Amino acid sequence: MSDPMRPPVSRAALRTAVVWEVLQDALDRRVKATGRESLDVLDTGGGSGNFAVPLARLGHLVTVVDPSPNALFALERRAAEAGVADRVRGVQGDAHGLFDVVERGGYDAVLCHGVLEYVDDPAEGVRNAVAALRPEGVLSLLAAGLGGAVLARALAGHFKEARQALGDPDGRWGEGDPVPRRFTAEQLTALVEGAGLRVGAVHGVRVFADLVPGVLVDTEPGALDALLELESTAAELPAFHSVATQLHVLANL
Ligand SMILES: C[S@@+](CC[C@H](N)C(=O)[O-])C[C@H]1O[C@@H](n2cnc3c(N)ncnc32)[C@H](O)[C@@H]1O
Repeated sequence: MSDPMRPPVSRAALRTAVVWEVLQDALDRRVKATGRESLDVLDTGGGSGNFAVPLARLGHLVTVVDPSPNALFALERRAAEAGVADRVRGVQGDAHGLFDVVERGGYDAVLCHGVLEYVDDPAEGVRNAVAALRPEGVLSLLAAGLGGAVLARALAGHFKEARQALGDPDGRWGEGDPVPRRFTAEQLTALVEGAGLRVGAVHGVRVFADLVPGVLVDTEPGALDALLELESTAAELPAFHSVATQLHVLANL
């Protein structure tokens, strides 16, 4: 049943709602455990601040490391517009040379969202993210899911591309695929456990949202809220992990 106290969600919010819910719960638990209201958060490949700026609005101190000067410029502007410029620090750097620019073992939480797809060595990227954590710190890892891409290509009638992605070691559907690498839930949890973390939860993100025609969601009263509830329930179920557009892994040191 939908919650009458909850404000209506937007299409854009639908794409990140599951991750937000899981992440906010994890950070709230860290706040209680540390007794500090404000956590030190590192957002590796944080780009223009889709997560960093809202986290700073919650009161946390966020360091964004990203190789793109344009993204960092957009981040600075966005943080200023949101009135949190003093809580967001953008640093040019990358996941492999992370400790050239940030402190080892200095963060309560590390985000690595939409980055493992692009780095040269995902295992090293995860190891560095983990090495940036304080004891008991939290890793939030979000990456493109293989099965979601296969399903999306097939439903769009691109059957050969769907088949190609299934057999490709990087889960790519062809030359024109803009994503260099996709993952299964098992691959992501193996990376995280291989770096010495305990996996707390795995969620499937955007199981239905990218497959449903926009018109069905935008014209039917209450449809967006109902879809959000469906996403949120399906996210928890392992059966849906294999068809999610993205996979989220929450893990602890
Ligand atoms: C898909 S965007 C995700 C941005 C942000 N994390 C989010 O969730 O909205 C990928 C980001 O990874 C950054 N990136 C690419 N290669 C990287 C690397 N080797 N190390 C760290 N970040 C990288 C890009 O500049 C870009 O900002």
